Amino acid sequence: MSPFELPTREEKAGYVHRQFERIARRYDLTNDVISLFMHRLWKRRAVDMLAAKSDGSYLDVCCGTGDLALTIARRLCPQASVTGLDFSANMLAVAQDRQRRAQAESRLLCPINWRQGDAQALPFADDTFDGAIISFGLRNLTDLSAGLKEMARVVRPGGKVVNLDLGRPSLPLFSPVFAVYFQQVVPLIGALLQGDRQSYTYLPRSLATYPPPSTLTAMFQEAGLADVRWLSLALGSVALHRGTVV
Ligand SMILES: C[S@@+](CC[C@H](N)C(=O)[O-])C[C@H]1O[C@@H](n2cnc3c(N)ncnc32)[C@H](O)[C@@H]1O
Repeated sequence: MSPFELPTREEKAGYVHRQFERIARRYDLTNDVISLFMHRLWKRRAVDMLAAKSDGSYLDVCCGTGDLALTIARRLCPQASVTGLDFSANMLAVAQDRQRRAQAESRLLCPINWRQGDAQALPFADDTFDGAIISFGLRNLTDLSAGLKEMARVVRPGGKVVNLDLGRPSLPLFSPVFAVYFQQVVPLIGALLQGDRQSYTYLPRSLATYPPPSTLTAMFQEAGLADVRWLSLALGSVALHRGTVV
């Protein structure tokens, strides 16, 4: 495959897995730089949408290095329980290091279970969690609908399913600037910080196969989620969806 070709459906899971295994160590730094630290604010907003109870149990799907799981664990300490699931062992290793460091610095966290597994076939029984959340993960799945249905399946009725991912900026002045930044500058940042231009070329290109917010709303509904709402963040470049399990 040439460096700038999107993987086929058959290749996608292996391609994405190899990519995150490669970039895990400097993933957080690169995220901060690419988003100008704004991903931290978006993720806090996403956790707000979970409407978490202090004694609930929550699942962070495609948790990566654990930003959402750690945020929930900090907020809901000490009673809640949090599970972070990802298929990349290297991303999970960084998440565990971050948890250990937070605990060593006496930053209080509720218990976190890290699980290696596939977001499209979650290794949990029906109705296990009070809510499930995913950020910048859904776009990477081979079967987005299967991922949404799995989150809806493992959450108890009344619980929320929240997704934070790329949107579609449409403001006349902003959208061309965003396109240049995302398609030209982001791969350069990836090359500079990660020595991996290919992964950060895949990032903007992965938007080509990811549905716009209105289509994603319909997919939430098809997954059996009710009361589906979405918010546009960062001038439309990011979208935050939430649905309720019935
Ligand atoms: C862009 S990262 C997002 C990480 C984290 N949620 C964040 O917002 O920083 C996408 C993550 O999804 C994981 N991933 C992709 N496909 C997956 C799958 N089928 N099952 C589990 N994890 C998957 C990758 O390993 C990676 O850690």
